[in-house]
Amino acid sequence: MTITPSVSIGIKDGKIACICTDDQCCEGKQVVDAGGQLVTAGLVDSHTHLVFGGFRQHELELKLRGAEYLEILAAGGGILSTVKATRAASADELQNKAADFLDQMLAHGTTTVEAKSGYGLDYETELKQLEVVAELQKSHKMDIVSTFMGAHAVPPEFKGNTEGFVDLLINDMIPKIAKTGLSPYCDIFCEQGVFNVEQSRRIMEAARNHGFKLKIHADEIVDLGGAKLAGEMQAVSAEHLIAASDKGLEALAANGTIAVLLPATSFYLNKPFARARNMVDFDIPVAIASDFNPGSSPGYNMQLAMSLGYLKYRLYPAEILTAVTLNAACAIGLGDTKGTVEIGKDADLVIWNCPDLDFLFYRFGNNQANKVVKNGVLV
Ligand code: NIG
Ligand code: FE
Repeated sequence: MTITPSVSIGIKDGKIACICTDDQCCEGKQVVDAGGQLVTAGLVDSHTHLVFGGFRQHELELKLRGAEYLEILAAGGGILSTVKATRAASADELQNKAADFLDQMLAHGTTTVEAKSGYGLDYETELKQLEVVAELQKSHKMDIVSTFMGAHAVPPEFKGNTEGFVDLLINDMIPKIAKTGLSPYCDIFCEQGVFNVEQSRRIMEAARNHGFKLKIHADEIVDLGGAKLAGEMQAVSAEHLIAASDKGLEALAANGTIAVLLPATSFYLNKPFARARNMVDFDIPVAIASDFNPGSSPGYNMQLAMSLGYLKYRLYPAEILTAVTLNAACAIGLGDTKGTVEIGKDADLVIWNCPDLDFLFYRFGNNQANKVVKNGVLV
């Protein structure tokens, strides 16, 4: 990574037009003076569950009393309580709420996000979530990449009949959602008590046959072999990977699958942190994202994830920056247009309140984004 002192970045039609070491490209132009501070590409949050009804603050007390994340889910709470609230919410409510989150994300330096469905678990509500994302793609400044995650949990009407829900996904929901063309990606929660490896494989095969690119929540809590499956299926990304085994990591490395790591989730669930250092050393491309959702990571500030990248993953500043920009862009298919400050790429930039890159990771807890430029325009 090159860190270039004292440059001017010229922007034309929302793209980076030149990068100059003198002031020539500024002549006669509107100038934003970065005051000698650090400028990076805008942050890319490559894993969020952006659109949801309600919140889950009532789980706080349950957790303090010892209930585990998967126990709350098995008892019909957790994701399923958000499913209830999301089914009950109107599209307008969901859209306004998500738009507010997006405003805040921009203010914290995030200029592109991925947004998963998965709080509907029936065709109508999944479609409602995906249509909200499609509306936001038109109306909001944020660039948003949509992911269908109908396989996020087993809905109450299929309790005790996971196979029945897998059949519905494969024979009905996946083909119908594919036809809408709303989402290029399909994600699935491969986890103990949710979808096992064989069910996940069948769902992924169906999704792939219908033209989806694949993502998978793998080995988040239990090492089921989700990372290995991700490699075998040549998924674009495997996400979480807290409990992933060496065999799983080997499969990711061999297949170029990107590891999307979510340190705020480990922090919030009081779980171990993924073996990011090993992954980088295994030559696995590592991205870091927020996992913003109402249960396991109710925060969208990528700067927290970045701090944990340093404090808990022990990654170096340049590795963390790459994980939240270029590798993250690649995890959602935007590596050609986003993620670096390069001529021809989208002019998504953050001017930080930081004299250098080390400073960005050294401070924590405050919003260090000073100015955000989105498609060439100051937000
Ligand atoms: O990535 N693990 C599954 N899905 C989300 C959590 C969703 C929720 O708890 O509402 C995650 O952590
Ligand atoms: Fe997630």
